[in-house]
Amino acid sequence: MHNLVGTTKGDATQLEALAAGLDGSVALVTGSGRGLGRCIAQHLADLGAAVAVHDISEEASAQYGEEANLTAVAAAIASRGVATVGVTGDICDEAAVAAMVARVSETLGPISILVNCAGGDIGAANTKPSPNGALDISLADAMAVLQRNFIGTMLMCRAVVPGMALRNKGSVINFGSLNAHQAVSPEVVYGCAKAAVVHYTRCLALEMRDLGVRVNVVSPGPATSARFLATRQTDPRMMGEGPSLDRYARPEEVARVVAFLASDQSSFVSGQVLRIDGAASLYAA
Ligand SMILES: NC(=O)c1ccc[n+]([C@@H]2O[C@H](COP(=O)([O-])OP(=O)(O)OC[C@H]3O[C@@H](n4cnc5c(N)ncnc54)[C@H](O)[C@@H]3O)[C@@H](O)[C@H]2O)c1
Repeated sequence: MHNLVGTTKGDATQLEALAAGLDGSVALVTGSGRGLGRCIAQHLADLGAAVAVHDISEEASAQYGEEANLTAVAAAIASRGVATVGVTGDICDEAAVAAMVARVSETLGPISILVNCAGGDIGAANTKPSPNGALDISLADAMAVLQRNFIGTMLMCRAVVPGMALRNKGSVINFGSLNAHQAVSPEVVYGCAKAAVVHYTRCLALEMRDLGVRVNVVSPGPATSARFLATRQTDPRMMGEGPSLDRYARPEEVARVVAFLASDQSSFVSGQVLRIDGAASLYAA
């Protein structure tokens, strides 16, 4: 039993590590070359997990100026004292997904935590679709958004979850969005793709119930990843440092929730959606 009374601020990370207990875990975080995924990968590493970082390419890390490339992201994770590997590939390509999962398993061991963070409102030209409404989005953009959010998440689950089921051990955290739960305009197809991720999560959790594999989904509200900041007009008031929760989420606030769902702290939580939005959506489901 660890005595938490009288600890100093400097002990906080160590205590969090003890509480979260990710030592011995192997995590694959898709889309962790930058943005929220990168922050999640760092946080899981700080909590003791071996971490595989992933992106569609080496260069994706540099698109919004966060890091030189995926190799540099992996090196930063390794410097935190855990085993790591970097893999690249399109999550919408079944053969690429199989190769990435095989490489991670061979290098780090069986995957026990899968974080499907790759995705976003990114169209066929690797930029935000424009136009982006219900009736005017191009078919190419609609297909790209559906693929990289819903189909990619499904293909990753199909490649990793059977192994978890055989071992009766695993936690999957998928990425929804606040847009999955309420009508939006624009970003309509993105919202539909995330709604599909949310429902796929519930169905997979049902199929995995007897096998001890947990599957949950987080739905962040607007969060200050570099891509988020670079691709829209932001409201300075929403960057707030004060007590109000009427603001954008910070990447580490998303990472901490993912760590909770990854760890045994949430051992009886499965099939759930956890909205990380500072009470922006106060309704059922
Ligand atoms: N930032 C927000 O406001 C916000 C809000 C709600 C949900 N989300 C979700 O959180 C996740 C991370 O978003 P972010 O803001 O950090 O954006 P981001 O663009 O920085 O991160 C997304 C990552 O996914 C990768 N990716 C995209 N398509 C891919 C593909 N086909 N194959 C492999 N990798 C691919 C990108 O290269 C990138 O590294 C996304 O799923 C996004 O939809 C973000």
